[in-house]
Amino acid sequence: MKTAIKKILIIGSCSLLGATTGLPNAIAKTPHGGEAIIDLAGQFHPVIGRKGMVSSQEAQATQVGVDILRQGGNAVDAAVAVGFALAVTLPKAGNIGGGGFMLVHRADQQQTHAIDYREKAPAAAHRDVYLNADGEVDKQRIRNSFQSAGVPGTVAGLLLALKQHGSMSPAQVIAPAIKLAEQGFVLSEPLALELQQRHPQLSRSAAGKAIFYKPDGSFYNAGERLVQTDLANTLKKIAATNGRSFYHGETARLIVKDSAKQGGLIKKQDLADYQPALRKVARGEYRGYQIATMPPPSASGIHIIQMLNILEQSQLQKPPHNSAAHLHLLSSVMQYAFADRSKHLGDPDFYKVPVALITSKDYAKQLAAKIDPKRAKRADEIAPVDIKSYRESPDTTHYSVIDKWGNVVSNTYTLNFSYGSGIVVAGTGFILNNEMDDFSAKAGAPNAFGLSGSDANAIAPGKRPLSSMAPTIIFKDNKPFLVTGSPGGSKIGNAVLQLISNVIDYDMNIAQASSVPRIHHQWRPDVLNHEDGISADTISILQQLGYTTKPSKGLGSTQSIMLKAGIVYGASDPRRPGAATIAE
Ligand code: DON
Repeated sequence: MKTAIKKILIIGSCSLLGATTGLPNAIAKTPHGGEAIIDLAGQFHPVIGRKGMVSSQEAQATQVGVDILRQGGNAVDAAVAVGFALAVTLPKAGNIGGGGFMLVHRADQQQTHAIDYREKAPAAAHRDVYLNADGEVDKQRIRNSFQSAGVPGTVAGLLLALKQHGSMSPAQVIAPAIKLAEQGFVLSEPLALELQQRHPQLSRSAAGKAIFYKPDGSFYNAGERLVQTDLANTLKKIAATNGRSFYHGETARLIVKDSAKQGGLIKKQDLADYQPALRKVARGEYRGYQIATMPPPSASGIHIIQMLNILEQSQLQKPPHNSAAHLHLLSSVMQYAFADRSKHLGDPDFYKVPVALITSKDYAKQLAAKIDPKRAKRADEIAPVDIKSYRESPDTTHYSVIDKWGNVVSNTYTLNFSYGSGIVVAGTGFILNNEMDDFSAKAGAPNAFGLSGSDANAIAPGKRPLSSMAPTIIFKDNKPFLVTGSPGGSKIGNAVLQLISNVIDYDMNIAQASSVPRIHHQWRPDVLNHEDGISADTISILQQLGYTTKPSKGLGSTQSIMLKAGIVYGASDPRRPGAATIAE
């Protein structure tokens, strides 16, 4: 926790103070309108409430969600409103040009639903579509061009959630986003600076240049308003047509026209055909808690279950938090999960993913037995499970919402990179994703997150690229206990794993669990990444065990809510600026 004081510039506001600590509390106003609660020992404390709560990466969007709850909306109404608002106020990851995953837990049904609104490969895409004449992946085309985009799913996904589980109309929940786009919002210092730094990426399209920069080409300053008129008009049409405009109407026409002009792959039929998928929630058990998370095409959901299972079966139980023994255990668990991911994970509509095997306790027991407490395994000593020989019966953003009735939403969505491909579709005001890079464009060739794959994640028309996004809900005695998720590409699953273990195994409050230093290992590259705040002695022991260690900034950015004895606790991760958790 030695870095805690430095991280004060973040978090959310609170409604009940001083409830969790004997020490006096301080509230630090942040430049972004949020507040951080710390005590004299430099510890973070959660936001506390008794009714609903919203935790998201951007304070104004969080407030939109809380306002919907206060108007009598349920968690899904609020979540959909937050999703559209973030598309305006957090342009790096909030989106209508990308896709994501939503878990909805309905208190009245005692059921959890998984909505997959991940982008799909256009019909014109095929296995080798991004290979150049030398047979190598053309990184420019798959990451930075109109061709980088999968068919966006966010509009269809959010509106499906609203129709099935919400109580308000599209117009009601999209209205706050329209207002923020039409009237503009005041730029924070970090966003103004980021738009300046991202000039090359956001100038790739004339439309993007016209939105994010002044007519004379100069930069907007913090304190000035960013007005997004085209985006407001696109949102108005979505609200008026319940999304038809985006997939079949005027916005679809604009997307298809610009796609044809810029050499994109998306055609009219791709948009007309797009449908979100309802998936069977992936489930596990961990030390008496029930886990509900996103199944494939999320990889990290089932790997979180797998990693928790290995921790549960490990001969070393709950070693001191962030000690070398603990981090060795965590790294080993991560290495096995990522090895399996490289071979067996892909879109379940196209590839039979061995979900039962990967999430089984028996398999976890076998993996736990392979961990040598005295030595790190090299990447080449670990291989994906051989299913045939196995004898067992076989800049993303996350937000969490809970309402006073106990309904819960856990949502992660993304454009892939921060600001996706950087390309704004002419006349629409929204940024296109570059999600095609999440496919394995060539077997064994790493993508931007260093992840490589095989057949399971090869490109095919209509297929969804494998994702690391893992919105998760943990239950205790079948009642929601913890709602969480994170951005961070390949680091998402490991960030969520550590947050869950911090709460369940180390009894941390949700703010501590969000702020203590994290590590990340993804098998290949064979490197153990660690944040600041892990002692030099610990790092040195890990190196002696055989790890190649590398300091790393900000592993993930969780937005979490926890329920205990009728009290709601929440915390925004202190790693990224601008986030807020607010109680209803
Ligand atoms: O779906 C995925 O796994 C990636 N497109 C996520 C990218 C991401 O998290 C970037 N954010 N920091």
